[in-house]
Amino acid sequence: MAIIKTDAQIELMKESGRIVAKTLRLVSEQIRPGISPLELDTMAEKLIREEGGTPSFLGYRGYPNATCIAVNEVVVHGIPSPEPLKEGDIITLDFGVYKNGWHADSAWTYPVGEISAEAKKLLNVTKESLMQGIAKAKPGNTTGDIGYTVQKYVESFGYGVVRELVGHGIGEVLHDDPHNVPNFGKPGTGTKLKVGMCICIEPMINQGTHKVITLKDGWTVVTSDNKLSAHFEHTIVITKNGPVILTKE
Ligand code: MF3
Ligand code: CO
Repeated sequence: MAIIKTDAQIELMKESGRIVAKTLRLVSEQIRPGISPLELDTMAEKLIREEGGTPSFLGYRGYPNATCIAVNEVVVHGIPSPEPLKEGDIITLDFGVYKNGWHADSAWTYPVGEISAEAKKLLNVTKESLMQGIAKAKPGNTTGDIGYTVQKYVESFGYGVVRELVGHGIGEVLHDDPHNVPNFGKPGTGTKLKVGMCICIEPMINQGTHKVITLKDGWTVVTSDNKLSAHFEHTIVITKNGPVILTKE
């Protein structure tokens, strides 16, 4: 697929991104103890379709839902469960929207009611690592510059950077070139970033070890020590003036 998008194509991705951001906002307002991930998934799918979009993840490699919802030690690809959320949980909503032939993809981790100070810190540090990574998404820099920045920041807090799952290019397909946008690595390595490239930056950060396990359902990825994991993701475009976030309203 075309790795460099035209201005007109970026406008279309911006529309998909707007729907992702609006849906995230509306669904996240419903997060509370007692509601289930499956109910949030149903809500998200309805909102996406009302905006003329379709859920990017539904049917992707046979994935059964519109959203991936990761609770507590689940890192990513949690299949929305009917089990009610509890006070003190953390929950990641992760989904993409496809409209007019173009995808956008975002994820955000939210508290359920009051959460511990440690959990709050994990959320804040992971969100900040995404912002620091995005700041490196400038023409001439590389994917390694992004990964290095994210890793250095989160490891200074003793957190683990997931290695098995990485960010990615995005466009007419959910996973486009460049296929690997790691949250770890060395400056100057990887793919050189160019004006018009669209990528998803998505640090998945664990409270403890970086090691993860995939459960028998073939999807759910959990921390191998059962400690918490957080995940923040934006779709961005690289412009001559630096990164612009597409997954916002
Ligand atoms: N969350 C993944 C990403 O951001 C995509 C999920 S794949 C799916 O790239 F099959 F679970 F939908
Ligand atoms: Co993604």
